Amino acid sequence: MCPRCRARAPAASGLQAAGRCPKDGAFFVSERALARSDGDPLLGCTLGGRFAVLALRARGARASVYDSRVVPAAPEGAGRPTTAPIASAVLKVVRCDGPRSEAALALAWEGEVQRLASAAVAPGWLGQGCSEVGDEPRFAAFVASERAPGASLAEPSEQSFLERATRAARALAALHAAGIVHGDLTPEHVFVDAQRSAATFVDFGSAALDAGGGGERARLSGATPAYAAPELWETGPTRAADVYALGCVLVRMVTGRPPFSAASLEGLRAAHRSAAPPPLPDAVGAALGSTIAAALSKSAGHRPPDGAALVRALEA
Ligand SMILES: Nc1ncnc2c1ncn2[C@@H]1O[C@H](COP(=O)(O)OP(=O)(O)O)[C@@H](O)[C@H]1O
Ligand SMILES: [Mg+2]
Repeated sequence: MCPRCRARAPAASGLQAAGRCPKDGAFFVSERALARSDGDPLLGCTLGGRFAVLALRARGARASVYDSRVVPAAPEGAGRPTTAPIASAVLKVVRCDGPRSEAALALAWEGEVQRLASAAVAPGWLGQGCSEVGDEPRFAAFVASERAPGASLAEPSEQSFLERATRAARALAALHAAGIVHGDLTPEHVFVDAQRSAATFVDFGSAALDAGGGGERARLSGATPAYAAPELWETGPTRAADVYALGCVLVRMVTGRPPFSAASLEGLRAAHRSAAPPPLPDAVGAALGSTIAAALSKSAGHRPPDGAALVRALEA
C-alpha cells in the first residue's frame, strides 16, 4: 500500500520488488507496517538515494529506527528489470534542519564510531548521510546498518545466563581493544546470537574514543540513568563505566529489573553512589554473583577495569 495516497500495490509488484507508487513515487509498504508506524512521514521515502524506508522498527531515546530495503542503483526508467539482489538494512534516523545541524553531526559521528568498531561487535555499516525529505523538519540524517543478529538482552532467551553474559563481555573486550568505549550499555543495546561467540552492540550515540586511560575523550555523553556508573554523572564515558553498566544489565537479566530505581533522577544518582545492590537469586551462584558485585563496585578502581578483565572473571 502507498503510505502517501493509500493506493494498493499491484499484486505483482509486491514488497519483494520494493515497488513504487506510480502516482507519487513512494515505496509501497505493508498494511501492517503502515498501521504500526502511526502516520510516520518517512514511510515510503528513499534516503541517500538507495535506502527505502519500509517500516518503523523502534523509537529510541534520540532517533527513530526503521526497516528498509536497499534499492538497486539502476537508473530509473531505463527499462531494465532490476535483477540485483535486494538486501535489507536498518536505518537510524534523526530529523533535523540541515546536514550541518547539531543532530546531523552527532549522528554522523555515531556512524563513524560504529564503522571503527568493526563488524565483529557492531552491525555492519552500510552507509550514512543526510537527505532532504520535503516536510518539516526538512532533513533526515541517517546511518544505515545491517540488522543486529539474534535478540537483545531485554528479550527472553533459551540460552543460559552465563553464556549470554560471557558473549556480552567478550564483545566489550573487543570494543575496548579497538579503543572505543560504548558509554550507554543497556539491555536494549546488546544483541546476542547463539551462532556467534561475541555479542553485537547498537547505539553508539554516547560512545567515545578512548585514548587508553585518562587521555582526551572525543566526546561526552548522555548515558541511560538506570545503567550509569556513579562517576559517569560527572565525567565522560570510560571502560570501567562500561563494565558497571554491563553489571547493571546482568542484574536486570536475573532479577527482571535494574539494580537501582528511584522516583527522581537525583534519587537514582544517590542510589548508584551509595545504595547496596539487590541480592541475586541463589541460582546465580557464588562465583558469578561476586563477579557481578565487583562490576557494580561504587569505586571504578575496584571493578574489573575493562571488558577483557570482565571476561577473565566470568571464565574463571
Ligand atoms: N542495527 C540494528 N539492528 C537491530 N535493531 C536495532 C539496530 N539499531 C537499533 N536497533 C533497535 O532500535 C532501538 C533504538 O535504536 P538506538 O540506536 O538505541 O536509538 P537511540 O539513540 O534513539 O536510543 C535499539 O534499542 C534497538 O532495539
Ligand atoms: Mg538507544
